[in-house]
Amino acid sequence: MNERLNRRLVAVMFTDMVGYTALMQADERLGLDKRDRYMSALEGHHDAFGGTIVQRLGDGSMSMFPSALAAVLAAVEIQRELATEDVPVRIGVHVGEVVVDPERLTGDAVNIAARIESFAVPGGVMLSDSAYDQIKNRSDVGIVRLGRFRLKHVGRPFDLYAVAADGVVVPDPGALEGKGEQFASLPSNLPDPPAALVGRPAELASLVELAREHRVVTITGPGGVGKTRIVIELGRLLAPEFLDGVAFVALADVTEPADFLPALADALDVKEAEGRTLGDGVAALIGDKKALLLLDNLEQVVSAASEVAGLAESCPGLRIVTTSRTPLRIAAEREYPLAPLELPPPSDTDSTESLMAYPAVALFVERGRKARGSFELMPENAGVVAAVCRRLDGLPLALELAAARLRLLSPEALLERLDHALQVLTSGPRDIPERQQTLRATIDWSHSLLSESEQRACSGAWPSSREGAPSPISRPSAPTPARPSSTSWSRSSTRLSSRRTARVTGFGCSRRSESTLANGSRPRARRARSR
Ligand SMILES: Nc1ncnc2c1ncn2[C@@H]1O[C@H](COP(=O)(O)OP(=O)(O)O)[C@@H](O)[C@H]1O
Ligand SMILES: [Mg+2]
Repeated sequence: MNERLNRRLVAVMFTDMVGYTALMQADERLGLDKRDRYMSALEGHHDAFGGTIVQRLGDGSMSMFPSALAAVLAAVEIQRELATEDVPVRIGVHVGEVVVDPERLTGDAVNIAARIESFAVPGGVMLSDSAYDQIKNRSDVGIVRLGRFRLKHVGRPFDLYAVAADGVVVPDPGALEGKGEQFASLPSNLPDPPAALVGRPAELASLVELAREHRVVTITGPGGVGKTRIVIELGRLLAPEFLDGVAFVALADVTEPADFLPALADALDVKEAEGRTLGDGVAALIGDKKALLLLDNLEQVVSAASEVAGLAESCPGLRIVTTSRTPLRIAAEREYPLAPLELPPPSDTDSTESLMAYPAVALFVERGRKARGSFELMPENAGVVAAVCRRLDGLPLALELAAARLRLLSPEALLERLDHALQVLTSGPRDIPERQQTLRATIDWSHSLLSESEQRACSGAWPSSREGAPSPISRPSAPTPARPSSTSWSRSSTRLSSRRTARVTGFGCSRRSESTLANGSRPRARRARSR
């Protein structure tokens, strides 16, 4: 019996005229006139693209096409024609197997196509994921993804897409209604960085690969090295691959491991519910979505690492990238130690062009220009600028803070202040450990860069920053965990070590002093934490 059925894989199209019944009640002549135009557009474009109208309903139609492409091209032409005649029609297309009778089509694909159409807006063309699959490689058909939906009485979830073309209406993904409901997706909330990224092409390429291959990637490095900045850039680069959302969760204010899950749930808008933990709620929201979660500043709550591991394990499509001064040490994790920006080697001839090719110099000069409009890298100051960047180890935050001083200081005066701070170190007591000596000196030099009022504002912050042990900066050549080597303070000179060795700087200090420095003002009030 089954063998006699005419089963075919086709593109099923549903259309209907929105508001037809109301229009007929209000103005029957106009209603009939619009319906005639609608039917004539349907017939003309079905003929042109090899479609067959199987059923005409009062204010709608069901038809089939040999391919999704034929159906989409016909749908676009139908909408273009009807747009000029002010006839509001919705169109939905789905590809699937149907049983073809002379007067009707049957099968799941028919019901699904009807549900897909129910989500279309007047003037729009809605596609199911299987219709989209057939045309996704066509460069001449614009498509917008609208999210994942649970269709009424349909077993599997569907991704819905809208055709974007001249004369076709594209719906707002947040306001779709139809027979079924949209799955909640992650908030796509990447912050907008205040300035363009300088350098880092190789680092980003490595991170993109790592994030594709590993469930958890941790970008490590001391404060100010650029972890937050690069993870935001990574999120932007990966966004097209993570269609269910790229969520950025700033954890700078979360200091207690117990507050980690509440903060995460809050950021993802997961509410407490009876009979499930917040962790379960977050895992249920993400489910099997292809989503990217960026957890910034995890270092204060690394002991919440098991929560991160659990989440990564229960959500197969999820990738987590964290930033932290220390790795989480969980099995799924790959660490990427982020080095400061590349510096010109001491042997460089310091020509302005060759210097600007080094990201550390480029960042300093760019921020210097912001501080003082007339500042430029010139042959006369090139050597001094390169020396300042080397003194600051290419650390982005240090470069930004120093460059801000160009408003009041010449590059020479800036270099002198840095030198002075470093001399304090060499003249200091010899019996304290090398690492602490270096730390003290770098805090001193960073302090010496501030104006008097800023120094006063900082005075409360320094003691706590001295207590916090900063992490050494390393310049790894490959994304493998770097073993912190001893500080390579050179006893024979007042310079910090050359590239590719571990160093300590004052910017590994507490967040409070970082934000004080970064804003050049008092620390911002912290967001009240709910316990
Ligand atoms: N590659 C870069 N290009 C431009 N600015 C950068 C770059 N890296 C860091 N910065 C800036 O330097 C400062 C410190 O970077 P940030 O990402 O906050 O460091 P971290 O998160 O490691 O403490 C920020 O103002 C940031 O915008
Ligand atoms: Mg940060």
